[in-house]
Amino acid sequence: MSLLIKNGRIITANDDYVADILVQGEQIAAIGNDLSAEPDTEVIDATGKYVFPGFIDPHVHIYLPFMGTYAKDDYESASKAALVGGTTTLIEMCCPSRAESPIEAFELWRSKAEGLSAVDFTFHMGVTKFDDAAEKELRELVSRGVASFKIFLAYQGAFGIDDEELFNTLKLAKELGVIVTAHCENATAVSQLQAELIAAGKTGPEFHEPSRPESIETSGVNHLMTFAELTGAHVYVVHTSCDGAVRAAERARYRGVNAWIETVIPYLVLDKTYAEKPDFEGAKYVMSPPIRDIRNQPILWDALRNRLISTVGTDHAPFDFGDQKTMGKDDFTKIPNGIPSVEDRINLLYTHGVVAGKIDLNTFVDAGSTQAAKLFGLYPRKGAIQIGSDADLVIFDPEYSGKISAETQQMNVDYSAFEGWEIKGRPSVVTVRGEVQARDGEFVGTLGRGQFLAREPNHF
Ligand code: URP
Ligand code: ZN
Ligand code: ZN
Repeated sequence: MSLLIKNGRIITANDDYVADILVQGEQIAAIGNDLSAEPDTEVIDATGKYVFPGFIDPHVHIYLPFMGTYAKDDYESASKAALVGGTTTLIEMCCPSRAESPIEAFELWRSKAEGLSAVDFTFHMGVTKFDDAAEKELRELVSRGVASFKIFLAYQGAFGIDDEELFNTLKLAKELGVIVTAHCENATAVSQLQAELIAAGKTGPEFHEPSRPESIETSGVNHLMTFAELTGAHVYVVHTSCDGAVRAAERARYRGVNAWIETVIPYLVLDKTYAEKPDFEGAKYVMSPPIRDIRNQPILWDALRNRLISTVGTDHAPFDFGDQKTMGKDDFTKIPNGIPSVEDRINLLYTHGVVAGKIDLNTFVDAGSTQAAKLFGLYPRKGAIQIGSDADLVIFDPEYSGKISAETQQMNVDYSAFEGWEIKGRPSVVTVRGEVQARDGEFVGTLGRGQFLAREPNHF
């Protein structure tokens, strides 16, 4: 099967030019002007459109047992949603409980994707306990191609690890050449503030943010950076929401710590007033770290424009409003944390970033695709438009305008955090390894075609 994409404006993290792309089989075979192809080749006219490398979401939750329930998507709904929104690779957090064996957990998480996903996928391996048995299994998992870990300095009593485990996880990561992604909040301080607020009768979703203030996230980042400095490990701060946390990571980079920063789309476009909506509607906007005071938004956009923030993910974690978020009706600490956005990330980043003049097209591609590929050992197979790269391509129509709505979304969740929001531009054709998987908001692909992406450590 061949595909010829004619006259598109090709945008990568560094380039911007008009050319044709010839795809043969699963890879890009040629890039040039006036390319021709065999008679059975599908020709797509991309005149007036952008051609981006397939976008990579470096932070999603699909199978997620969490806070007494399960996130709503499976790989059918999540990969369809990803594709119509231009995302062709998902990196899921594998989050075992402390009682589970890492290998068994990895096999369980992988089994949820294999045979069902329409996008390629891989995992950050959650280290929720570190002892001799876990260490042995983690070594085995890295040799099977899982080249990144995930740790939580939050969720005490669930996924969270203590400082001895943190130190030993980072030592192992350094030895194996594995990057460690980290949720940074001071767990003890969160628990204390939660207890005080609930005791004072402050039980609504609007008190979620005050229970996890910016200082608690900043403290978490500083803590991680101290341990990264001591061990020499490469670390990646996930879902960075605020000025203090960005500065803490930036200061560590300045003194030579191998640190990178992710933010996620909700923090760039939402602010804490959404979680203050009346009649419990604010629960739709409860995630951790919380969506912040609006003064943080321009700071995050600036850090993105300067490429101090490397990636924009989603932290996609969908829980229904109707019967899951309501678990916390009388106590905000019981509201399942998470905002669904895997379908909307790229459209929102384009509309609120590129169209609004906050970031340029190259930064958009870098943050939405290329940096994740580089940091997590997928480049240049993914995140690039080069001869030999996987033909994961997004032909993007900048002239489209439309609205986001739960009624039309692919995500299996009963609300949209962006209901009625206007978007400008959207993916028109999306390919994964040379096959068209989505067209103009519709999934037209093949479930189960997605492949597990084994990755090499030591790619920095
Ligand atoms: O609120 C969030 N972020 N939910 C998903 C779990 C996590 O912390 O990433
Ligand atoms: Zn997290
Ligand atoms: Zn997460």
